[in-house]
Amino acid sequence: MGRLDGKVAIITGAARGQGEAEARLFASEGAKVVLGDVLDEAGEQAAASIGENARYVHLDVSREADWAAAVEVAAGMGPLAALVNNAAIIRPAAIEETSLNDYMEVINVNQVGTFLGMKAVLEPMKTAGGGSIVNISSIDGLQSKNGLISYSASKFAIRGMTKTAAIEWGRFDIRVNSIHPGGVNTLMGNPTNDPQAEKEPYVYQAIPRIGAPVEIAYAALFLASDEASYITGAELSVDGGWRAGPITPGLPGTDHVVGYGYNPG
Ligand SMILES: NC(=O)c1ccc[n+]([C@@H]2O[C@H](COP(=O)([O-])OP(=O)(O)OC[C@H]3O[C@@H](n4cnc5c(N)ncnc54)[C@H](O)[C@@H]3O)[C@@H](O)[C@H]2O)c1
Repeated sequence: MGRLDGKVAIITGAARGQGEAEARLFASEGAKVVLGDVLDEAGEQAAASIGENARYVHLDVSREADWAAAVEVAAGMGPLAALVNNAAIIRPAAIEETSLNDYMEVINVNQVGTFLGMKAVLEPMKTAGGGSIVNISSIDGLQSKNGLISYSASKFAIRGMTKTAAIEWGRFDIRVNSIHPGGVNTLMGNPTNDPQAEKEPYVYQAIPRIGAPVEIAYAALFLASDEASYITGAELSVDGGWRAGPITPGLPGTDHVVGYGYNPG
């Protein structure tokens, strides 16, 4: 028995990274998966390597017409039970160096894409008798950083939109939750694939390393499954403890951060 037996799921941004890991994991748990992305070659390859229960569709999440086509493909595979709004882009830049076009590019993919995705699956999920929408936000949707004006705006928005949809659609048995990953070892989280970047930035984090894509995928799997049947409007941090707060050298309780010792005197 798989944890997603009999369910059809659409996963956006599934040609690589976390989306691909989610598609692979969902299929291994019995789901039929529609992988959507704008990277057609990589997306086709990912779907082919997953097998007969996976289909790739060209889905630019910022285009309403693409969503209609993706939902159509999903309908041909069975009742739509899950959507993971995972696709996103990031364009780090100081505020004064961010043009309106740059800003809107990020908002259109991350925020508008999530809005269009939720809208597109409403009717099919109602027809299916319910469903689960998992919106991938970020720790930058809980707290921000310099250089992330557009990305952080979009990720805070996803967090809020998740709660609106959860409140509106609970009556249809459609659950809507957000996941807030910390650093994850993908092209977005570690663009130069640098082994140093897998540890150094995380030295003050409870689990002092970057996350693996599958560690986010397992959280999405849980929220998509019936095991989460009473969970909606929730924020699930998958961040190695970043949200709990940083390790503070100089106070007791940890000895693995080299800095200065605790000296109450
Ligand atoms: N990697 C991290 O450190 C990190 C941290 C927090 C949150 N996240 C979030 O996790 C999610 C997955 O990111 P990732 O780390 O796998 O990044 P990634 O860049 O490896 O993958 C993103 C995928 O989205 C696709 N995409 C981009 N624009 C698209 C569009 N318009 N339509 C459809 N697909 C599009 C890309 O082609 C790519 O396949 C994103 O929502 C990201 O914001 C990532």
